[in-house]
Amino acid sequence: MEKIAILTRDCAGVNAAIRSVVRTVSDFGMEVVGVMRGYDGLIDGELMPLNRRSVSGIINRGGTILKTSRSQRFYTESGQEQAVKTIHDNGIEGLIVIGGNGSLTGAHVLATKYNISVIGIPATIDNDVTGVDLTLGADTAVNVALEALDKIRDTATSLERIFIVEVMGRSCGYIALNVALAGGCEEVLLPEMDVNLDGMCKEIQEGNEKGKVSWIVIVAEGKAKAHDIADIITKKTGLETRAAVLGHIQRGGRPTAMDRLLGARLGNYAVNILKEGTTDHCVNFKDDKLFTIPLSVAIQPKEIDVDSYYRLIKILT
Ligand code: F6P
Repeated sequence: MEKIAILTRDCAGVNAAIRSVVRTVSDFGMEVVGVMRGYDGLIDGELMPLNRRSVSGIINRGGTILKTSRSQRFYTESGQEQAVKTIHDNGIEGLIVIGGNGSLTGAHVLATKYNISVIGIPATIDNDVTGVDLTLGADTAVNVALEALDKIRDTATSLERIFIVEVMGRSCGYIALNVALAGGCEEVLLPEMDVNLDGMCKEIQEGNEKGKVSWIVIVAEGKAKAHDIADIITKKTGLETRAAVLGHIQRGGRPTAMDRLLGARLGNYAVNILKEGTTDHCVNFKDDKLFTIPLSVAIQPKEIDVDSYYRLIKILT
């Protein structure tokens, strides 16, 4: 294999992974190009030659230096064929796709339908890739949300208020669960669990009568909207409630050490196995070991065990 390409989504740690891929490829004496703007760029043939120097000074930066897109065109047969043409016309023999479910599904399509050699690196703040304990970007997202939450707590405590804080995660409650436990929150509403709003309001009211005056409830975006929950609590309890939506700040920012290390390890491993002939798999790192899982497994909806975490959150409240 002499020439490979990298295509990315954005989250913290992706630049560290790009750097690792590029420098590993260069160590092997191979050529590497970056695909600009994700699958749209692959369709349009927007490629950028990369070398050791082009990835200097990016290990600490969030987002992706290659830019990205949510490509609608890649869902179509003609978009996919055009993307494959770019790969063949440019002598690209292998592709590394760094991204979440959507990007990895695209990688699986390229491998199975068009026989392209593809390796995925799981990267999404949602941490919803099946078989993968920790995707790139998830650790930074939890830490960013936690920092914001600590600041909100200052106001919640000072004004004796209830706060509903909405975090990202699409249909996965990973960020919500981790932020709630690490942030010492009283309640968390998750897509994976039924919610008893009447019970929660009763608990808040009874707590208030006993002198517990400030509450923080984390709500996962895939479950409900923070403002709707705040309205319900205000109506049912009469207590002053505010909502805060953390939004995209969770996807950006300076990657944590964990995300940089993960990017370095996974990027290097991805190049090695691609070169050795593995395809249609994504790389993974667990218990200090690197291994692969089939993309067909990785893109299935992920089930997370929320019960033990949730019980602990309630015990520690
Ligand atoms: O998948 C990452 C994510 O940030 C989700 O948590 C969120 O639901 C979604 O992307 C937001 O997408 P967009 O940036 O396209 O609005």
